[in-house]
Amino acid sequence: MASSKASLLFCYVLTVAATAEAAFFYNVVDLGAKPHGRTDSADAVAAAWSAACGSRQPATVYVPKGSFLLSHAAFSGPCSSSRVTLEIDGTLVAPSGYTGGDEWIMFDHVDGLTVSGGTVDGRGASVWACKAAGHGSCPNGATSVMVLNSRDVVISGLRSVNSELYHVVINGCDGVTVRDVKIVAPGSSPNTDGIHVQGSSGVTVTRASIRTGDDCVSVGPGTARLRVERVSCGPGHGISIGSLGKDDDGVEEAGVENVTVTGASFAGTDNGLRIKTWARAAARGAYVRGVAFEHATMRDVRNPIIIDQNYCPNHGGAGCPHQSSAVKISDVRYTDIQGSSASQVAVKFDCSASNPCTGIDLQDIRLTLDGGAPAEAVCQHADGGASGYVVPPSCL
Ligand SMILES: *[C@@H]1O[C@H](CO)[C@@H](O)[C@H](O)[C@H]1NC(C)=O
Repeated sequence: MASSKASLLFCYVLTVAATAEAAFFYNVVDLGAKPHGRTDSADAVAAAWSAACGSRQPATVYVPKGSFLLSHAAFSGPCSSSRVTLEIDGTLVAPSGYTGGDEWIMFDHVDGLTVSGGTVDGRGASVWACKAAGHGSCPNGATSVMVLNSRDVVISGLRSVNSELYHVVINGCDGVTVRDVKIVAPGSSPNTDGIHVQGSSGVTVTRASIRTGDDCVSVGPGTARLRVERVSCGPGHGISIGSLGKDDDGVEEAGVENVTVTGASFAGTDNGLRIKTWARAAARGAYVRGVAFEHATMRDVRNPIIIDQNYCPNHGGAGCPHQSSAVKISDVRYTDIQGSSASQVAVKFDCSASNPCTGIDLQDIRLTLDGGAPAEAVCQHADGGASGYVVPPSCL
């Protein structure tokens, strides 16, 4: 009896869900978007969004197969609907050449957001070319997908290619899952970080493939409870906590706490697992603590394990030479990190003289040069311990 009642209820729920989907499903083509990539779909996409966001039921904006030119999209909330989905089967294509703004596709204050499938093509080549030519007056470029101030967000199966600047940025959010995303840009493209997280809690990035010109995953101030699982990186600059402690404006910088990176693989990247802070004394109160880097493989990585607290690009453009970082790094565990280093120093802990690193822990590390020749570990102002098999021998 009980079970047939349950299945009846299940049936009813399914029917309601199907009906809701039919009623609250906004196909951008029905609203005037053209799938041939030549006319701007911004108005149709905006109309679909305002209908979906204003719905009292879960609602979906649907982008079917085809190529949709999109000059800019601001998916802003708060929404009346508690679940809003952007489902992409086709490709959203940015105009070629910079058109202004910090981001191309933005979600702001959208709780219960899902973005699924599809491709976003930032067409960043002309911005990269300008930067490569070094004229000095190039646009920054736009981040392709920016998610701001939102809770309970899922980004699934998205492919981002050739962003002008970062591919995906998550800022000011709580509870975000990014899964099965694929990110592609040339190794030579400047500032094309794959996924950047800051000012956010409870973000999980799982099963991503990231080939790009800058950091694979980068972690900014104010990040807590971040998990990065099974991400493959390369080409690019690897996974980086930081840069932190730049402190341009005298405001106390929020710390980074409880970050786990597990099952990452790196091929031909500049760095593997990096923590990086500016060599500047002004960032009072800033910290990185509670970090676990585990089960990573490295192939031909220049700096497989690195803490760099002496970051000072252009030798003082930001007033950093001869200062020591105010960012306190503690409780960082490296467990089961294996593979090959492209440089002699496979493990480098270059910490702050005024705020030495504490609680650095190495366990089961096996890093050699390509071909198996021994590499080295170098420590500066770093304290901690090692256990298990640790090669190169620990300098802690
Ligand atoms: C970080 O983890 C520690 C230990 O589990 C916990 O006590 C602390 O509250 C966590 N911090 C945040 C911001 O979640």
